[in-house]
Amino acid sequence: MRTKAAVLWGLGEKWQIEEVELDAPKEGEVLLKLVASGLCHSDYHLVTGDIPVGLPYVGGHEGAGIVAGVGPGVTDVAEGDSVVLSFLPACGKCAHCARGMTNLCDLGAHIIQGPQLDGTYRFHARGQGLGQMCLLGTFSEYTVVPMASVIKVDPASPLDRAAVIGCCVPTGYGSVVKTAGVHPGDAVVVMGIGGIGANAVQGAKGAGARYILAIDPVEYKRQKALEFGATHTAANVAEAQALITDLTRGIMADACVITTDNAESGYVAEALSLVGRRGKVIVTAIGHPTDLTMGGSLFELTLYEKSIHGSLFGSSNPRHDIPRYLEMYTLGQLKLDELITQEYTLDEINQGYEDMLAGRNIRGVIRF
Ligand SMILES: NC(=O)c1ccc[n+]([C@@H]2O[C@H](COP(=O)([O-])OP(=O)(O)OC[C@H]3O[C@@H](n4cnc5c(N)ncnc54)[C@H](O)[C@@H]3O)[C@@H](O)[C@H]2O)c1
Ligand SMILES: [Zn+2]
Ligand SMILES: [Zn+2]
Repeated sequence: MRTKAAVLWGLGEKWQIEEVELDAPKEGEVLLKLVASGLCHSDYHLVTGDIPVGLPYVGGHEGAGIVAGVGPGVTDVAEGDSVVLSFLPACGKCAHCARGMTNLCDLGAHIIQGPQLDGTYRFHARGQGLGQMCLLGTFSEYTVVPMASVIKVDPASPLDRAAVIGCCVPTGYGSVVKTAGVHPGDAVVVMGIGGIGANAVQGAKGAGARYILAIDPVEYKRQKALEFGATHTAANVAEAQALITDLTRGIMADACVITTDNAESGYVAEALSLVGRRGKVIVTAIGHPTDLTMGGSLFELTLYEKSIHGSLFGSSNPRHDIPRYLEMYTLGQLKLDELITQEYTLDEINQGYEDMLAGRNIRGVIRF
């Protein structure tokens, strides 16, 4: 079939909106009609090369839609079902899934390789196969994805809101609640208030943190952080250091989550300076694969038992957590309407990314 998709052909280029060829789903795959797709910073890493992949690519990994067909062997979903896509596939069978670490499923190795799990491409244009971001490619009216990425949800779910539960909600919320294991009464710092950071703030609020300090150089982001539950804001780390020292009488934060646009090595040292004894630094933002340096006091790391922890998909379990977050939204316990600050058509995707870079959105979303 033919479908309209946003394709990235080269580093530093704009997304090209064009008609492409989409193959029928093969064994264990699902054809999906997208309803909405979030504009996550991770897709912009494809443009800059901070996530190095073999282009061309159909971008997008934060989507929800309706099943439009299934390949042989798919029995869990059928045409017409409402689904949210998980940016991490989970097979449920590998050594990591079996240990309950489904966000670290062996299939995750394929998410930035381009083709589908069997090594062949579903999207084609200009005589070439097109990779799919996270095996998904949600910047397209239709896509074909592996069953392991498909999470069936309640048919009454508002899919235009649910799309952001495919990445930014579990990633941010889970970074605080699951990876950092924040407790009621803790003091939490969130560095960077985009889609991920706003959800880290809501996670800290949900966990009952007593202080939630949001750092962002952009005034609008600091205002929005207060809406998600931040108790204090700071424009930079120096301001945050003075504030958290004062608030905690020198004990400092229990956790600092790094949700900036890129993970720069210097940020780890800054975050370490904001946490106290047994304080946890959670690195959720993505750094360049060749960046092998990381700053901070090793002396304090040992003597204060501080720790540095990476977080993928907020250490969440897609099949369990995605429907649960959706239910929290319908119960009024999770803010998604406030998160989605601007909607775009697929044709407006480059404007959406311009707005993200200019700090004008918390999360922009494409509505199909
Ligand atoms: N680990 C994961 O599972 C996972 C999943 C999705 C996204 N990510 C990554 O999370 C990061 C954030 O994504 P996003 O979509 O929220 O990005 P975004 O661009 O929407 O937000 C980033 C925010 O960081 C702020 N910022 C930049 N430098 C800062 C600094 N020095 N101090 C404080 N704030 C600063 C920006 O003003 C902006 O508000 C990206 O690196 C993305 O690739 C990780
Ligand atoms: Zn994402
Ligand atoms: Zn697995």
